[in-house]
Amino acid sequence: MKIAVTGGCGYIGSHTLVDLIENGFEVISIDNNSRSTEQILTGVEQITGIKVRNYAVDMCNLDALRAVFEKNPDVAGVIHFAAYKWVGESVEEPLLYYRNNLDSLLNLLSCINDYGIRYHVFSSSCSVYGNPIELPVTENTPLSVAESPYAMTKQVGERIITDFAKTGTHQHILLRYFNPVGAHPSGHIGEIQPIPQNLVPYITQTAAGLRPQLRVFGNTYNTRDGTCLRDYIHVCDIAYAHTLALQYLVNKTDNTPNCEIFNLGLGEGATVLEVITAFERATNEPLNYQIVEKRAGDVEKIYSDNTKAKKVLHWRPKYTLDDMMATAWAWQKQLLIINY
Ligand code: UD1
Repeated sequence: MKIAVTGGCGYIGSHTLVDLIENGFEVISIDNNSRSTEQILTGVEQITGIKVRNYAVDMCNLDALRAVFEKNPDVAGVIHFAAYKWVGESVEEPLLYYRNNLDSLLNLLSCINDYGIRYHVFSSSCSVYGNPIELPVTENTPLSVAESPYAMTKQVGERIITDFAKTGTHQHILLRYFNPVGAHPSGHIGEIQPIPQNLVPYITQTAAGLRPQLRVFGNTYNTRDGTCLRDYIHVCDIAYAHTLALQYLVNKTDNTPNCEIFNLGLGEGATVLEVITAFERATNEPLNYQIVEKRAGDVEKIYSDNTKAKKVLHWRPKYTLDDMMATAWAWQKQLLIINY
């Protein structure tokens, strides 16, 4: 079965290509490399032995996107990763985020409709819960106000798909990722952030001497140690959930709704300071950090109830927080050699 992976050269996209290939799927990637590099597909090939074809297409260009599906009429499913994802940048450039993340989604759904693509898995985010009214959050926890334009693009994206799902026979799954971190244990693929925005790439670049100091954004939150609390989850566990989601859709015979939502988190919270401690413990690398002002758009604390993904998809996350730090650090050391 052929699957089109949008954003296949990105962080979660590339790990998912590997997992799909290892589970017998044929894959193509659609990625304009605006926030990624096609070189990562070399790493995918080193792990799987398969050279993945990437179509360097801007998904906001409907004609260009349609051309990919014209050339690949046998695509049976799409996993849609391609989107901008940085909370801070989205606060500074909201129009960039709304235009890029929503135009590309609308165009993809048009193609799903026009080319009769049956299966669709969408990258959503725990940011849709805003500052949640209960913890841990389940898929039924009511969504609070989106704290950033990035989060809003995910709330609106979910709504668009939910409405679209009611009109056809296409099968959709919305995966709400918590905080994906770490890298493939082979060391061949991982996250590339030349200017790091997320916590773990910032930690590894600081430990590698590329950044003088990690800034911890605020220590007066209502958490164990005053720093924000998140549910960190290994990227390979996230990638595997996509394979399971597709297999679930393909094997589905009952009348369950044609748009279903799953939380993908470890089900545990870790504060920023706890992540730093885990990094130091797992790598024996001391980290230079300083507490600074809070970052606009951050939620205080969130972690998942992942019961539904475990029960329905039979998902079993297997990596610990220390594994996440160790693999992220191994990848960072590789990056110093590969020099993307
Ligand atoms: C958000 C989404 C997450 C999504 C990610 C994509 C929420 C709750 N989560 O993650 O689903 O996958 O965007 O980018 O909205 N931090 C520092 N110093 C830094 C960087 C980060 O202290 O240099 C802190 C942040 O304040 C936050 C934590 O580390 O408390 C994690 O931040 P980050 O890695 O940027 O991810 P989120 O914004 O939580």
